[in-house]
Amino acid sequence: MKRIIGVCGAPVTTHNSGFVGLYGVESGFQNRGIGQKLFTLCLQHINDRNCGLHAVPEKLSMYERKAGFGVREGVSMVVCNNLPQNWQNLSKTINDNTRVEELNKENKHLLAKIIEYDSKVHKEKREKLLTSSLTKPDYTTFVAIDDMSGHLVGFGCIRLHNGGKGMIGPLYADNDTIAEVLVYNLINSCIAAQTKGLLFMTISSSSGGLKIAQKLQITERDRCELSIGYVKFSDKSGHLKSEPYVDD
Ligand SMILES: CC(C)(COP(=O)(O)OP(=O)(O)OC[C@H]1O[C@@H](n2cnc3c(N)ncnc32)[C@H](O)[C@@H]1OP(=O)(O)O)[C@@H](O)C(=O)NCCC(=O)NCCS
Repeated sequence: MKRIIGVCGAPVTTHNSGFVGLYGVESGFQNRGIGQKLFTLCLQHINDRNCGLHAVPEKLSMYERKAGFGVREGVSMVVCNNLPQNWQNLSKTINDNTRVEELNKENKHLLAKIIEYDSKVHKEKREKLLTSSLTKPDYTTFVAIDDMSGHLVGFGCIRLHNGGKGMIGPLYADNDTIAEVLVYNLINSCIAAQTKGLLFMTISSSSGGLKIAQKLQITERDRCELSIGYVKFSDKSGHLKSEPYVDD
């Protein structure tokens, strides 16, 4: 019977960049060149696109020295995890022309608008991912709509996290006020977030995200340095051919 003894995956993801992951060889079969072979096949699939990976610390130098990956520094994922305080004090209204409403999962038209809005952030349509996630029973989504134009100006989701807390994400908005109003509605709709806690992740370069966390007094529990988000340079001079990998 055939048995899998090693695996490596390399999908082409956002911004037409690749991401290598799920890299492992069963312990009894390591150090025989199997891993290297799988990894090389994956890089061939990625071709000359930029490529990211998250390395376990002990493999950092291997990727750097032997596979031509470089560290992307300066951006961290900030993980806040606590009972949100005074969430009722967050802004509740945007302006006279902008309303916030909950997504009815049957509303295909509104879902299409969310996919369209999201694609402006991600530079590609994440249709499958959003359709399958946002229509799941444990997802609650709110959208902000400009009534004058009918355009979406933001959307956000909350769902239950493994620990039974509320977890916000994705959350995108045209400005900080819209984001804040969305967060108010998301917490308001989620008893678990109010009583058990809220998991809220933002990146260190997002002043709006950090401001919301500060207002909710949800303390930073963890800061994951994205310096382990490696980028493979596409030419020897170190210049990136396309946009760099961003973990979002
Ligand atoms: C990492 C792992 C997949 C390597 O698999 P493997 O089959 O043992 O590796 P190989 O036998 O192909 O390695 C042969 C050589 O290629 C190197 N190599 C292996 N994978 C490589 C890669 N992705 N890039 C560059 N070099 C690599 C090794 O350092 C080794 O060099 P050496 O002969 O100078 O020591 C394996 O050790 C493993 O499963 N480790 C546990 C899980 C893990 O850490 N995964 C990586 C998470 S980031």
